[in-house]
Amino acid sequence: MIKARNVSLVYRDGTVALQNINLDLQLGGLYYVIGPSGSGKTSLMKLLIGMEFPTAGFLEVMGQPMRKRETAKIRKLRRDIGPVFQEFKLISGRTAIENVMMGMRFLNIPLNKAKELAKNTLSRVGLEHKTYTLVDRLSYGEAQRVAIARAVARRPALILADEPTGNLDHDNAVKIFTLLESFKDKNTTVMITTHATHLIDDCRTATILRVEKGKISIERGGERI
Ligand SMILES: Nc1ncnc2c1ncn2[C@@H]1O[C@H](COP(=O)(O)OP(=O)(O)OP(=O)(O)O)[C@@H](O)[C@H]1O
Ligand SMILES: [Mg+2]
Repeated sequence: MIKARNVSLVYRDGTVALQNINLDLQLGGLYYVIGPSGSGKTSLMKLLIGMEFPTAGFLEVMGQPMRKRETAKIRKLRRDIGPVFQEFKLISGRTAIENVMMGMRFLNIPLNKAKELAKNTLSRVGLEHKTYTLVDRLSYGEAQRVAIARAVARRPALILADEPTGNLDHDNAVKIFTLLESFKDKNTTVMITTHATHLIDDCRTATILRVEKGKISIERGGERI
């Protein structure tokens, strides 16, 4: 599902964000990307969604080579990726359900079906009672759950969450991780970056991608693999 061969990313100012990354990740499952600030976690997410391109090496996401000249195909690929970012950019002046439906607007899903998916997903994230509330009137944690609903309502094969617990306290952060984890299955891969490693210490079913100064090592069940 994700194949990286000697992938490097050097930003235009010369900063080396990722260096000689090699990955072979299968479809389905849970991955935590951990590492200190500035280690390259967000850069990895940007490569996976095609916001940046490798400056060396070869990267493939769900069979799609991630190359600048394939932008049209990469735009299609993105329909199958649900991104959750730290600044989750909900559309103010709109309700929760309207925001969730935004995530489906280019997918040719009939309106009724899209509404149904949006409603179901909002109850899945515990916000059934806020379906028709303006997002401006939601708490930070609630807004983050709307952003998650927006990303997952169309059932993408790859859910990419970059620091999804940003400003949340411990208990709410754990809730967000648990919620995101609940979407993993054999056809859905969930990948979450965090530097809050103390929140995932108990996470035995996850594969850990440990990023350090632009290099990635892989661990499962506390063992390096
Ligand atoms: N657009 C950019 N141009 C130049 N350098 C960049 C750019 N974006 C990030 N960097 C640099 O690349 C390196 C990796 O950054 P990245 O954002 O991937 O780290 P991160 O692991 O996500 O950090 P954090 O935990 O703080 O979010 C850092 O040295 C950063 O300063
Ligand atoms: Mg980051």
